Amino acid sequence: MKALAFEIIGSILIVRGSANDRVLKEYAEEKMNKHPYIKTVMLQTTKIQGQERTRELKLLLGNKNFETIHREHGNQYLLNPLDTFFSPRLSFERQRIASLVKENEIVLNFFAGVGPFSIAIAKKQKSSLIHSIEINEKSCNYMRKNIELNNCEDNVIVYCGDAFDIVPHKFLNSANRVLLPLPLESKRSLPLAIECLEGGIGTIHWQITDHLSSKSIDLNGVTKSIEEIFARENVSFEYIISEHRIIRWIAPHIAHIAIDIELGR
Ligand SMILES: C[S@@+](CC[C@H](N)C(=O)[O-])C[C@H]1O[C@@H](n2cnc3c(N)ncnc32)[C@H](O)[C@@H]1O
Repeated sequence: MKALAFEIIGSILIVRGSANDRVLKEYAEEKMNKHPYIKTVMLQTTKIQGQERTRELKLLLGNKNFETIHREHGNQYLLNPLDTFFSPRLSFERQRIASLVKENEIVLNFFAGVGPFSIAIAKKQKSSLIHSIEINEKSCNYMRKNIELNNCEDNVIVYCGDAFDIVPHKFLNSANRVLLPLPLESKRSLPLAIECLEGGIGTIHWQITDHLSSKSIDLNGVTKSIEEIFARENVSFEYIISEHRIIRWIAPHIAHIAIDIELGR
Protein backbone atom coordinates (compact mmCIF):
# COMPACT_ATOMS: atom_id res chain seq x y z
CA MET A 1 0.00 0.00 0.00
CA LYS A 2 1.34 3.45 -0.96
CA ALA A 3 1.70 5.91 1.94
CA LEU A 4 -1.20 8.34 2.30
CA ALA A 5 -0.43 12.02 1.82
CA PHE A 6 -2.48 14.96 2.95
CA GLU A 7 -2.86 18.71 2.70
CA ILE A 8 -4.82 21.06 4.91
CA ILE A 9 -6.95 23.88 3.51
CA GLY A 10 -8.52 25.86 6.35
CA SER A 11 -10.48 23.36 8.45
CA ILE A 12 -10.51 20.68 5.71
CA LEU A 13 -7.93 17.92 5.50
CA ILE A 14 -7.62 16.35 2.05
CA VAL A 15 -6.18 12.83 1.87
CA ARG A 16 -4.45 11.50 -1.25
CA GLY A 17 -3.57 7.88 -1.97
CA SER A 18 -5.37 4.57 -2.01
CA ALA A 19 -6.35 2.37 0.90
CA ASN A 20 -9.38 0.39 1.94
CA ASP A 21 -12.32 2.11 3.65
CA ARG A 22 -11.34 0.94 7.14
CA VAL A 23 -7.77 2.28 6.82
CA LEU A 24 -9.06 5.58 5.42
CA LYS A 25 -11.59 5.92 8.27
CA GLU A 26 -8.91 5.25 10.89
CA TYR A 27 -6.57 7.72 9.20
CA ALA A 28 -9.30 10.39 9.17
CA GLU A 29 -10.12 9.78 12.87
CA GLU A 30 -6.46 9.96 13.83
CA LYS A 31 -5.98 13.26 11.97
CA MET A 32 -9.11 14.79 13.51
CA ASN A 33 -8.01 13.75 17.00
CA LYS A 34 -4.52 15.11 16.43
CA HIS A 35 -5.60 18.45 14.90
CA PRO A 36 -8.76 19.67 16.69
CA TYR A 37 -9.19 22.52 14.18
CA ILE A 38 -9.85 19.95 11.39
CA LYS A 39 -13.62 19.74 11.00
CA THR A 40 -13.80 17.74 7.75
CA VAL A 41 -11.67 15.01 6.18
CA MET A 42 -12.05 14.32 2.47
CA LEU A 43 -10.48 11.86 0.04
CA GLN A 44 -9.19 13.20 -3.27
CA THR A 45 -10.56 10.82 -5.91
CA THR A 46 -9.23 12.47 -9.08
CA LYS A 47 -6.21 14.49 -10.12
CA ILE A 48 -6.52 18.27 -10.35
CA GLN A 49 -8.08 18.49 -13.79
CA GLY A 50 -9.74 20.52 -16.51
CA GLN A 51 -9.46 24.18 -17.34
CA GLU A 52 -10.65 25.23 -13.88
CA ARG A 53 -8.07 22.98 -12.15
CA THR A 54 -10.51 21.40 -9.73
CA ARG A 55 -10.64 17.87 -8.32
CA GLU A 56 -13.26 15.48 -7.05
CA LEU A 57 -13.38 14.91 -3.33
CA LYS A 58 -15.36 12.43 -1.23
CA LEU A 59 -16.33 13.05 2.39
CA LEU A 60 -14.61 10.62 4.78
CA LEU A 61 -15.46 12.15 8.14
CA GLY A 62 -16.85 15.26 9.78
CA ASN A 63 -18.75 18.34 8.80
CA LYS A 64 -20.52 18.57 5.43
CA ASN A 65 -19.82 22.28 5.15
CA PHE A 66 -17.13 22.39 2.49
CA GLU A 67 -16.58 26.15 2.60
CA THR A 68 -13.58 27.10 4.68
CA ILE A 69 -11.23 30.00 5.43
CA HIS A 70 -7.55 29.29 4.86
CA ARG A 71 -5.17 31.61 6.72
CA GLU A 72 -1.73 32.31 5.28
CA HIS A 73 0.80 35.02 6.22
CA GLY A 74 -1.93 37.09 7.88
CA ASN A 75 -4.24 36.86 4.84
CA GLN A 76 -7.53 34.97 4.69
CA TYR A 77 -8.91 33.04 1.74
CA LEU A 78 -12.50 31.81 1.75
CA LEU A 79 -13.12 28.95 -0.69
CA ASN A 80 -14.73 25.62 -1.35
CA PRO A 81 -12.07 23.14 -2.55
CA LEU A 82 -14.72 21.20 -4.50
CA ASP A 83 -15.42 24.17 -6.77
CA THR A 84 -12.15 26.10 -6.92
CA PHE A 85 -8.40 25.66 -7.18
CA PHE A 86 -6.33 26.42 -4.10
CA SER A 87 -2.95 25.09 -2.99
CA PRO A 88 -1.27 25.89 0.33
CA ARG A 89 1.96 24.69 -1.28
CA LEU A 90 2.12 27.91 -3.32
CA SER A 91 2.35 30.00 -0.14
CA PHE A 92 6.11 30.70 -0.40
CA GLU A 93 5.80 31.57 -4.10
CA ARG A 94 3.05 34.11 -3.34
CA GLN A 95 5.21 35.81 -0.72
CA ARG A 96 8.28 35.72 -2.97
CA ILE A 97 6.46 37.47 -5.81
CA ALA A 98 4.72 39.93 -3.48
CA SER A 99 8.08 40.99 -2.06
CA LEU A 100 9.39 41.83 -5.56
CA VAL A 101 6.58 44.27 -6.40
CA LYS A 102 7.62 47.91 -6.21
CA GLU A 103 5.61 51.04 -5.40
CA ASN A 104 2.80 51.96 -7.82
CA GLU A 105 3.26 48.90 -9.99
CA ILE A 106 0.45 47.78 -12.27
CA VAL A 107 0.25 43.99 -12.09
CA LEU A 108 -1.78 41.74 -14.36
CA ASN A 109 -2.72 38.27 -13.10
CA PHE A 110 -4.05 36.15 -15.99
CA PHE A 111 -5.23 33.21 -13.85
CA ALA A 112 -6.21 34.58 -10.44
CA GLY A 113 -8.31 31.79 -8.88
CA VAL A 114 -9.80 32.86 -5.54
CA GLY A 115 -7.21 35.67 -5.45
CA PRO A 116 -4.29 34.52 -3.27
CA PHE A 117 -1.44 35.89 -5.43
CA SER A 118 -3.25 39.18 -6.08
CA ILE A 119 -4.19 39.67 -2.44
CA ALA A 120 -0.71 38.73 -1.16
CA ILE A 121 0.72 41.44 -3.47
CA ALA A 122 -1.90 44.02 -2.47
CA LYS A 123 -1.22 43.44 1.23
CA LYS A 124 2.56 43.75 0.85
CA GLN A 125 2.69 46.62 -1.64
CA LYS A 126 -0.18 48.93 -0.77
CA SER A 127 0.28 51.25 -3.76
CA SER A 128 0.05 48.45 -6.34
CA LEU A 129 -2.93 47.76 -8.57
CA ILE A 130 -3.57 44.14 -9.53
CA HIS A 131 -5.93 43.37 -12.43
CA SER A 132 -7.07 39.81 -11.73
CA ILE A 133 -8.70 37.65 -14.39
CA GLU A 134 -10.44 34.34 -13.67
CA ILE A 135 -12.64 32.11 -15.84
CA ASN A 136 -14.39 30.09 -13.11
CA GLU A 137 -17.38 32.10 -11.87
CA LYS A 138 -17.34 30.44 -8.46
CA SER A 139 -13.68 31.38 -8.03
CA CYS A 140 -14.51 34.95 -9.14
CA ASN A 141 -17.19 35.16 -6.46
CA TYR A 142 -14.79 33.90 -3.79
CA MET A 143 -12.13 36.32 -5.05
CA ARG A 144 -14.59 39.22 -4.62
CA LYS A 145 -15.34 38.07 -1.06
CA ASN A 146 -11.63 37.60 -0.33
CA ILE A 147 -10.85 41.11 -1.52
CA GLU A 148 -13.39 42.38 1.04
CA LEU A 149 -12.15 40.03 3.78
CA ASN A 150 -8.60 41.32 3.31
CA ASN A 151 -9.57 44.98 2.84
CA CYS A 152 -7.91 45.40 -0.52
CA GLU A 153 -10.86 46.74 -2.55
CA ASP A 154 -8.71 49.65 -3.79
CA ASN A 155 -5.94 47.39 -5.08
CA VAL A 156 -7.44 44.26 -6.61
CA ILE A 157 -9.89 44.42 -9.53
CA VAL A 158 -11.70 41.27 -10.70
CA TYR A 159 -12.44 40.45 -14.35
CA CYS A 160 -14.50 37.29 -14.64
CA GLY A 161 -13.88 35.63 -18.02
CA ASP A 162 -11.31 34.11 -20.33
CA ALA A 163 -7.92 35.84 -20.11
CA PHE A 164 -7.30 35.11 -23.79
CA ASP A 165 -10.41 37.15 -24.68
CA ILE A 166 -10.08 39.91 -22.07
CA VAL A 167 -6.36 40.66 -22.29
CA PRO A 168 -6.11 41.65 -25.99
CA HIS A 169 -8.98 44.13 -25.54
CA LYS A 170 -8.00 45.65 -22.23
CA PHE A 171 -4.41 45.12 -21.19
CA LEU A 172 -1.96 45.44 -24.07
CA ASN A 173 1.00 47.71 -23.23
CA SER A 174 -0.39 48.40 -19.76
CA ALA A 175 1.39 46.46 -16.99
CA ASN A 176 4.75 46.41 -15.21
CA ARG A 177 4.45 42.81 -14.14
CA VAL A 178 2.43 39.82 -15.39
CA LEU A 179 1.64 36.66 -13.45
CA LEU A 180 0.98 33.42 -15.36
CA PRO A 181 0.16 30.90 -12.62
CA LEU A 182 -1.17 28.17 -14.91
CA PRO A 183 1.46 25.77 -16.35
CA LEU A 184 -1.23 24.19 -18.56
CA GLU A 185 -1.36 27.41 -20.61
CA SER A 186 2.32 28.35 -20.31
CA LYS A 187 3.01 28.21 -24.06
CA ARG A 188 -0.07 30.13 -25.15
CA SER A 189 0.11 32.79 -22.44
CA LEU A 190 3.77 33.85 -22.64
CA PRO A 191 3.68 35.76 -25.98
CA LEU A 192 0.46 37.55 -24.94
CA ALA A 193 1.95 38.45 -21.54
CA ILE A 194 4.92 40.09 -23.28
CA GLU A 195 2.54 42.28 -25.25
CA CYS A 196 1.03 43.46 -21.95
CA LEU A 197 4.25 44.97 -20.61
CA GLU A 198 4.17 48.74 -20.81
CA GLY A 199 6.82 49.91 -23.28
CA GLY A 200 8.03 46.30 -23.50
CA ILE A 201 9.61 46.65 -20.04
CA GLY A 202 8.82 44.53 -17.03
CA THR A 203 8.73 41.11 -15.41
CA ILE A 204 6.79 37.98 -16.25
CA HIS A 205 6.33 35.30 -13.61
CA TRP A 206 6.04 32.24 -15.81
CA GLN A 207 5.00 28.90 -14.33
CA ILE A 208 5.76 25.68 -16.18
CA THR A 209 5.98 21.98 -15.48
CA ASP A 210 9.04 20.05 -16.57
CA HIS A 211 10.40 16.54 -16.43
CA LEU A 212 13.66 16.72 -14.45
CA SER A 213 16.17 13.91 -14.28
CA SER A 214 17.94 15.54 -11.31
CA LYS A 215 16.95 18.00 -8.57
CA SER A 216 18.00 21.00 -10.64
CA ILE A 217 16.21 22.93 -13.36
CA ASP A 218 17.51 22.52 -16.90
CA LEU A 219 17.91 26.22 -17.80
CA ASN A 220 19.13 25.43 -21.31
CA GLY A 221 15.94 23.45 -21.83
CA VAL A 222 13.84 26.35 -20.49
CA THR A 223 15.60 28.82 -22.81
CA LYS A 224 15.03 26.45 -25.72
CA SER A 225 11.29 26.28 -24.90
CA ILE A 226 11.08 30.08 -24.80
CA GLU A 227 12.90 30.37 -28.13
CA GLU A 228 10.56 27.76 -29.66
CA ILE A 229 7.52 29.72 -28.49
CA PHE A 230 8.96 32.92 -29.98
CA ALA A 231 9.78 31.15 -33.26
CA ARG A 232 6.25 29.72 -33.50
CA GLU A 233 4.78 33.20 -32.94
CA ASN A 234 7.31 34.73 -35.29
CA VAL A 235 8.51 37.19 -32.63
CA SER A 236 11.80 37.89 -30.92
CA PHE A 237 12.56 39.62 -27.60
CA GLU A 238 15.65 40.33 -25.54
CA TYR A 239 15.20 38.88 -22.08
CA ILE A 240 17.00 37.47 -19.08
CA ILE A 241 15.89 34.80 -16.64
CA SER A 242 16.39 36.59 -13.33
CA GLU A 243 15.20 33.77 -11.06
CA HIS A 244 14.17 30.16 -11.30
CA ARG A 245 13.01 27.77 -8.62
CA ILE A 246 11.16 24.52 -8.12
CA ILE A 247 7.83 25.39 -6.51
CA ARG A 248 6.89 21.78 -5.76
CA TRP A 249 7.15 18.25 -7.06
CA ILE A 250 3.97 17.09 -8.79
CA ALA A 251 5.16 13.52 -9.37
CA PRO A 252 8.54 11.81 -9.19
CA HIS A 253 10.73 13.74 -11.68
CA ILE A 254 7.93 16.19 -12.62
CA ALA A 255 8.35 19.63 -11.14
CA HIS A 256 6.19 22.75 -11.03
CA ILE A 257 8.69 25.50 -11.77
CA ALA A 258 8.75 29.28 -11.44
CA ILE A 259 10.71 31.25 -14.04
CA ASP A 260 11.06 35.04 -13.70
CA ILE A 261 11.62 36.62 -17.11
CA GLU A 262 12.80 40.23 -17.28
CA LEU A 263 12.32 42.20 -20.48
CA GLY A 264 13.77 45.53 -21.55
CA ARG A 265 15.39 46.42 -18.22
C1 LIG B 1 -3.64 26.67 -11.26
S1 LIG B 1 -5.01 27.71 -10.87
C2 LIG B 1 -4.18 29.06 -10.02
C3 LIG B 1 -5.14 29.98 -9.32
C4 LIG B 1 -4.47 30.97 -8.38
N1 LIG B 1 -3.50 31.78 -9.08
C5 LIG B 1 -3.87 30.28 -7.20
O1 LIG B 1 -2.64 30.18 -7.13
O2 LIG B 1 -4.61 29.81 -6.33
C6 LIG B 1 -5.38 28.41 -12.44
C7 LIG B 1 -6.67 29.21 -12.47
O3 LIG B 1 -6.83 29.74 -13.79
C8 LIG B 1 -8.18 29.66 -14.15
N2 LIG B 1 -8.21 29.67 -15.63
C9 LIG B 1 -7.99 28.64 -16.48
N3 LIG B 1 -8.03 29.06 -17.75
C10 LIG B 1 -8.28 30.39 -17.71
C11 LIG B 1 -8.44 31.39 -18.71
N4 LIG B 1 -8.34 31.08 -20.00
N5 LIG B 1 -8.69 32.65 -18.32
C12 LIG B 1 -8.79 32.97 -17.00
N6 LIG B 1 -8.66 32.07 -16.01
C13 LIG B 1 -8.41 30.79 -16.36
C14 LIG B 1 -8.71 28.41 -13.50
O4 LIG B 1 -10.09 28.45 -13.32
C15 LIG B 1 -7.93 28.42 -12.17
O5 LIG B 1 -8.64 29.09 -11.17
